[in-house]
Amino acid sequence: MNYIGSKYKLSDFIKSTVYSVVGKDLSNKVFCDLFAGTGIVGRKFKKEVRQVISNDFEYYSFVLNKNYIENHLEIEDKQELIDKLNNLLLIENGFIYQNYCLGSGSERQYFSDENGKKIDTIRTKIQEWKQNNRINDSQYYFLLASLLESADKVANTASVYGAFLKHLKKSAQKELILQSADFEINDNEHQVFNQNSNELIQRIQGDILYLDPPYNIRQYGSNYHMLNTIARYKQFEPKGKTGLPAYQKSKYCSKNFVLQEFDNLIKQANFEYIFLSYNNEGLMSVADVQNTMSKYGNYHLEKIAYQRFKADKTENRNHKANKTEEYLHILKK
Ligand SMILES: C[S@@+](CC[C@H](N)C(=O)[O-])C[C@H]1O[C@@H](n2cnc3c(N)ncnc32)[C@H](O)[C@@H]1O
Repeated sequence: MNYIGSKYKLSDFIKSTVYSVVGKDLSNKVFCDLFAGTGIVGRKFKKEVRQVISNDFEYYSFVLNKNYIENHLEIEDKQELIDKLNNLLLIENGFIYQNYCLGSGSERQYFSDENGKKIDTIRTKIQEWKQNNRINDSQYYFLLASLLESADKVANTASVYGAFLKHLKKSAQKELILQSADFEINDNEHQVFNQNSNELIQRIQGDILYLDPPYNIRQYGSNYHMLNTIARYKQFEPKGKTGLPAYQKSKYCSKNFVLQEFDNLIKQANFEYIFLSYNNEGLMSVADVQNTMSKYGNYHLEKIAYQRFKADKTENRNHKANKTEEYLHILKK
């Protein structure tokens, strides 16, 4: 998934830095990914550590991580379930088609008509199976994560869901095919939460805390609202041109609140090692981060040059350079 702030390309750098600081044998360690997003960092450590604790306060992210992190044994009847969902008779009265596709008269076009109907059809069937106990929790989150990722591939947006495109782009014209969201199989049990970082931190403890909060004012709840809508699938009244639901706001996206929120987080963290990803263009300056972390133990910094996130192809033309610096701030408490 093309996700704002994704650490997909940086995950090897993060892993090798953790190795160099903590050591290569992590088999006894509890690793927490507190702002997990797509879950890619937790996934990198899932087979290395005793337990991954994964958290994000967006519900779609919770669903992805319930699958990619908490699921750790083979999914029963995996292919049979996927095949059934791909071959259902499409319904027309579902929430996505009625509110976010052109053919229903909604005046919005986040998906082609066929794909909107298919999302509704699959989502409705997954819920029906869950209610009838035809599937268990592991299968439920596996299927939901598969649907979120497969739907995201055919979304008619420039990348995020802040707006839809006027004309159906090429990838959005393709038929949505449900593809399985495969995860690492391993013996250990992992934990996934859907909470505010600063509340959860008071109730957990472990060895390695990885922090990847938002860097700027872009709220994930508005940029990825469609994924929340598909994941929750609860009725509401979509308003305005984009049909944006009410969404929660992160203090990490606010210049006024971020520093105090961050300081509280570090202060309360019951972890020996803390790694923070943050780039040099964030709401907190490098000095802000350094001063805050240094108050609580031994601090040092690692840097790497990095390609800027592209919301769409034209966006970067306005920037002087496509390269930015990505920082890994390290604290031993
Ligand atoms: C930079 S992204 C993380 C990206 C992730 N490391 C990845 O590679 O996919 C920041 C994440 O923090 C989440 N978030 C923002 N404020 C939060 C808060 N107060 N508590 C928990 N999660 C929060 C957002 O929903 C978003 O998924």
